[in-house]
Amino acid sequence: MSRRVAAAIVERLKTVAGIRVDPKNQQFLTFRLDRRLQALGLDSYEAYLEVLESPSGEAETARLVESLVTHTTSFFREPAHFDWMEKTGLPTLNEAGAGRLHPLTVWSAACSTGPELWSAGMVLDRFSQTITGGLRWGMVGSDISAGVLRRAAGAIFTATELAGVNEERKRQYFLRSRPGVAIANGQRLYRVAPELRNRASFAQGNLLQELPDIPLADIIFLRNVLIYFAPDDRQACLNNVTARLRQGGYLILGHSDSHHGLPPGMTACGPSIFRKG
Ligand SMILES: C[S@@+](CC[C@H](N)C(=O)[O-])C[C@H]1O[C@@H](n2cnc3c(N)ncnc32)[C@H](O)[C@@H]1O
Repeated sequence: MSRRVAAAIVERLKTVAGIRVDPKNQQFLTFRLDRRLQALGLDSYEAYLEVLESPSGEAETARLVESLVTHTTSFFREPAHFDWMEKTGLPTLNEAGAGRLHPLTVWSAACSTGPELWSAGMVLDRFSQTITGGLRWGMVGSDISAGVLRRAAGAIFTATELAGVNEERKRQYFLRSRPGVAIANGQRLYRVAPELRNRASFAQGNLLQELPDIPLADIIFLRNVLIYFAPDDRQACLNNVTARLRQGGYLILGHSDSHHGLPPGMTACGPSIFRKG
């Protein structure tokens, strides 16, 4: 691949999704690109760049982004955040009126296939049961990738994917496929129970753009996505995301995400947790 073509593709990925790929890391790029070339029946990277730059290039760019980003996730990943949510975050928000005056809303931004969102849902439901009359609450999951969002909304997981969920939660919050019925790779499947599914909505969205369709949230999980962005995109993402956070609400970053670029008025108050105002 010529340097010009590599640089043009990399630039397009950065503009559209904020994804950083070192043009010198050709091995990584060509491996992923070759699959796209094969799928489209093209025989050169130049021809592929032409497709990307054509009027219908948007859909292909989305497919390329999809093939380059990492969707790694798991239930109760970075468990300190869910402990904090249960013991500190939810009681503090509820005392201030969230769940009574307005629905307490959790947004899993960059939710991938959904385990982060459903983990938060289990904690929320359990907390709601401790409140007389229950809480009003809901959840939103968003991601740039339509493919993972479909999986998140489908809410079906294998036993291996549920490794981080304890037995009690599995019994309470999952429906298990009957023996021999729905099986994936020899494993029975689990589906999130309707009590949680009915509380969730999903929206495709690029965090580098404003997200007016996302409701104001009380807790936002923005974990393990900032690491892929260049500093200017990280800043744009943090501005867009915190614009959807209520005053007094909490932003939760991944343990390895840098918080540089957080807008003023966000105060550290827990492990990679920041409060607005
Ligand atoms: C590593 S996963 C993190 C999943 C989850 N937050 C967690 O920590 O387990 C990163 C997700 O970010 C999404 N993503 C990457 N760039 C994005 C962007 N510009 N806007 C929205 N989502 C993006 C990817 O599609 C992927 O599903």
